[in-house]
Amino acid sequence: MSVRSWSYPVVLSLVAVFGALVAPQAQAAGDAVRGKTLGYTCLGCHGVENYKNVYPTYSVPKLSGQHPEYIVQALKGYKSGERGHATMHAQASSMSDQDMEDVAVYLAGKPVTAVAGSTPVGEVPAPVATCQACHGRDGIGIMGMYPTLSGQNADYIERALGEYRSGGRRNGIMGPFAMQLKEADIKAVAEYFSHQKPALKTVSRPTSRFSAKQ
Ligand code: HEC
Ligand code: HEC
Repeated sequence: MSVRSWSYPVVLSLVAVFGALVAPQAQAAGDAVRGKTLGYTCLGCHGVENYKNVYPTYSVPKLSGQHPEYIVQALKGYKSGERGHATMHAQASSMSDQDMEDVAVYLAGKPVTAVAGSTPVGEVPAPVATCQACHGRDGIGIMGMYPTLSGQNADYIERALGEYRSGGRRNGIMGPFAMQLKEADIKAVAEYFSHQKPALKTVSRPTSRFSAKQ
């Protein structure tokens, strides 16, 4: 059957199906070169080792090695207000979806991946049995939408869990899981995931360009 003999509706619906299948992939592949320019201001915090948020004090999250899909999702959350954080709301508000895709692939760099057969670092706290369905036992998110936690700052993990519990972050998946955790569990899982490998890292700064501008 030649293409010419196909009716227009059939061809159009094939185009629609094909389009729907390729679109998410095309989006996930942001433009890292454009992202580097857009992401320059982000490095003022995310490119500085041990940089802290003040009032309350906790470490700025590490983004290098994170899933770009999750970075985009987080930025959308700050933009919409689902995640409450004044600075990040200001940063995300002016960004288009494309800006987010581009900056995400730049900041994520090479996402960390699980090492087959690896053993966890330290004792595995009991609640991890629940978390591992999405975040992996080693803290590596099993899909793009599930954040990687391995090597993340423990105080930031604690902060994030506290925010899901208090409603400072409104999330249908994490809210209920965080609610089930006791204070001691939160400390234990945060410590545990922060020590797993391969680890997230602080984004490295392109020193020449950065120092030229300072
Ligand atoms: C003034 C410091 C500062 C700047 C500049 C900044 N951030 Fe942030 N960022 C933070 C802090 C603090 C948090 C943690 C907020 C919270 O508690 O939810 C955060 C959180 C995030 C998260 C969530 C990470 C996670 O693991 O959930 C992403 C993604 C992010 N920032 C991306 C960016 C991007 C992209 C830019 C630049 C356009 C940027 N940030 C600029 C301080 C900053
Ligand atoms: C069904 C899947 C699922 C399970 C199970 C799950 N999570 Fe999550 N987790 C998610 C998703 C999705 C997000 C991103 C939510 C958002 O957009 O804020 C998330 C976010 C997080 C974050 C924020 C990370 C960051 O960088 O800001 C932490 C910390 C976290 N989860 C810890 C846990 C812990 C601890 C457990 C076990 C008690 C757990 N999660 C169980 C899906 C899950």
